This record gives sequence, C-alpha cells and structure tokens, in this order.
Amino acid sequence: MPLVRHVCFYTYDNRMERHGPASWNSLSKMRFDILTLFPEMFPGYLSQSILNKSIQRGLVEIHVHNLRDWTTDRHQKMDDRPFGGGPGMILMVEPVVKCVREVRALSDDPGQLILLTPQGETWNQQRVEGLASGPQRFLLLCGRYEGFDQRVIDILEPLEISVGDFILNGGEVAAMVLVDSLVRMIPGVLGDEKSSWDDSFSRGNRLLEYPQYTRPREFEGREVPPVLLGGNHEEIQRWRQQKSLENTRKRRSDLLTDPESTDP
Ligand SMILES: C[S@@+](CC[C@H](N)C(=O)[O-])C[C@H]1O[C@@H](n2cnc3c(N)ncnc32)[C@H](O)[C@@H]1O
Repeated sequence: MPLVRHVCFYTYDNRMERHGPASWNSLSKMRFDILTLFPEMFPGYLSQSILNKSIQRGLVEIHVHNLRDWTTDRHQKMDDRPFGGGPGMILMVEPVVKCVREVRALSDDPGQLILLTPQGETWNQQRVEGLASGPQRFLLLCGRYEGFDQRVIDILEPLEISVGDFILNGGEVAAMVLVDSLVRMIPGVLGDEKSSWDDSFSRGNRLLEYPQYTRPREFEGREVPPVLLGGNHEEIQRWRQQKSLENTRKRRSDLLTDPESTDP
C-alpha cells in the first residue's frame, strides 16, 4: 500500500515526479498540504489569477489530501456521534492523526500544522507576516460537521486559527484564506513588492490605506484630488499619509496607538 493513497498535486514543472520527494526541500518555494474531506473544492480556486501564476512559476506547491483515505473500515467512516449526546457528528481521532503523521513525513521539514477552527486565534496580517517569515511548509487541517475529537488537538498540538467570529460549514474556505494571504508574502508573487508593505494592516504602517484613483480625472462632477495630478512625489506622499491616518481614525481607531495624534 503506498504511503499516500490520494494526492492532488498542483505544480508547473513536476519536479517532484522527476526527482522524488527528497528534492522538495532544496526548492525555495512555499508548500501547502491541505487535509480535507472535500479535495474537489480546491482546483477551481487554485487555477485562478495570482495563485495559479505562482504555481506556474514554481513559487508555490499545493498538495490536497483526502482525509477519508486514512480510514480503515470499508465504509470509509470519518465521523461518529458525540459521547454524552448532542447534535451533529464529530471527526474521529484515529484517521486524522494518521493522516497528519503520514503527510508530515513526506518532507524532511515537518512544517507548521494549522487546524482551522472558530475557536482559534484570529487570523490577521501580522500573523500572516510572522508565519511567512518562518519555515515555508504549512499543513492545513480542515474540519467539518461539529469539528474534531479533542484528542486530535491534544496529540498533535496544532496552531489553531480562526478566520473570524462566525461559523463556516467547513475549514476549506478558511484554508483558502490562509493560502491566499500567505502566498502574497513570497518575494516575486506580486507585481510590485511595495504593495505588500502599503496595503491596509500591512508592515508599512499597520493603518488603512489611503484613497486611490485612476482615469478619468472627472466623473459625474467628482474630480481626482489635484495633488495626485501634480507630479510632486513628496506632496503626494504627505497627502497619502494624512488620508491614511484620517481613514483609520474614522473607521478603525483601534489600530491607532493614540487616536488624537497626527502620528500613527
Ligand atoms: C460547523 S464548524 C464546527 C464548529 C464547532 N462545533 C464549534 O462550535 O467550535 C465545522 C468546521 O468548519 C471550520 N470552521 C468553521 N468556522 C470557522 C472559522 N471561523 N474559522 C476557521 N475555521 C472554521 C472548522 O474547521 C470546523 O471544524
């Protein structure tokens, strides 16, 4: 029986097939292993826009594994009723732990295991930047139904991450959010690296971004601010800093150390 019984592998140059798993570590790319009961949710998302281009250019590798392939009974049962009663079904500990251990062993780098759960730490840009600056392998464990048997967490000790204070039907969309935000941090993924500094919440100043305009200069009587048309880069920079601060004070004063100050 092969170690991994089901893997969807998304990469451009198929280096894994040509050189085998040992070669993965020598490649400077971000690698994701997504562990899910619904692997078919991912191809559409992966084949679009920046993510697709990053895969094509060999900057990102994504492997999607079907948790059900680690079940041992002939019905491929992954869930069972909760002890003590209550609604819904719980993901069973044995196939999940086996799956994580086997997928981890596919590379010398064990990677960071992340379990998607509404009970986890809230995902934000500082967390994105922190994780992106560490080891470049992430295992994303997606829940379904009423979530995981607690022993999955006790045994594997994952980083538990929530994408917000609301309940999704499963961890797949949350996993896509993590992939999407992390790949933006890889040098070369964005056309202009500066945007990953200047975007709202980002390392440039942690504030909301300033307003942006493009052609036409006037639409339905609304004109582009003249300072943006004058070509004076220092003035433009000052105007943007000021607008960024105003925007943040108005909408997200929690991001400012001193909401009254003219400094962030
Ligand atoms: C219906 S939820 C289970 C919620 C669980 N009963 C609770 O109250 O904490 C099913 C799965 O969706 C995922 N999920 C739901 N909301 C999420 C969120 N806000 N952030 C990350 N994952 C979430 C998790 O993987 C979870 O195991």
